[in-house]
Amino acid sequence: MLNIIIMGPPGAGKGTQSELIIKNYGIPHISTGDMFREAAINKTTLGLEAKAFMDRGELVPDEVTIGIVRERLSKDDCAKGFLLDGFPRTLVQAEALKTLLNEINRPITSVINLAVNEKLLIDRISSRRVCPKCGASYNLLTKTSKKEGICDNCQGELILRDDDRPESFKVRLEAYKAKTLPLVEYYKKEGLLSEVDGLASIEEVFKSIQEILSKGK
Ligand code: AP5
Ligand code: MG
Repeated sequence: MLNIIIMGPPGAGKGTQSELIIKNYGIPHISTGDMFREAAINKTTLGLEAKAFMDRGELVPDEVTIGIVRERLSKDDCAKGFLLDGFPRTLVQAEALKTLLNEINRPITSVINLAVNEKLLIDRISSRRVCPKCGASYNLLTKTSKKEGICDNCQGELILRDDDRPESFKVRLEAYKAKTLPLVEYYKKEGLLSEVDGLASIEEVFKSIQEILSKGK
């Protein structure tokens, strides 16, 4: 059973590695960021509330975020494992997750932390382009689309994510340091944390993750 959390600062490569993990291990990808962005596109109450926080680079309030994860984890497809990307992001979320998973008897089996440096994050984020229609993600330097500016999957026009503008990105990085970084220690103490060098190539990072998961950690 793989009940995984993937962690790391904004731009560390969580989404990129999540795509490879779910393809390889057949477990659902639960990305709170993707869920909020989809809700924002659909203009639901949740989406509109979340969008205001996201555009500023701030975290969406804990109770809202915990609510959507609780609902998602109760779906049948999570019974055989799941991958959490971008959740938990605060100690309150981590504690709520622990309680919830204890209740359904599906404890976390592995926490993967992608370690990177700040300079690299800024380079990656400024060169990331996303498809607002299907959510696919590209990079002008490391993961280009076949046709410049056009999504390979749905032919949508690629854009810079709203919160990738430098002023929002700065706030996201600060939020990460203040609220999420303490979770590295938290999961280390729980004996669940494995660190991966996120500076390596996409393929090399994935290889390291596979090694960790093959040990059942
Ligand atoms: P979220 O969508 O989770 O964003 P994030 O954590 O800021 O992370 P990113 O998605 O920007 O980066 P990533 O690590 O996925 O990197 P990627 O693989 O794309 O959250 C957005 C917002 O939603 C938050 O700010 C908050 O408002 C809200 N939110 C979400 N969850 C929340 C929660 N739990 N609580 C409260 N609020 C929440 O890679 C980046 C780029 O680098 C790409 O272009 C990629 O192609 C490239 N790249 C990746 N890996 C490599 C590599 N190894 N080598 C070279 N290039 C690479
Ligand atoms: Mg992401």
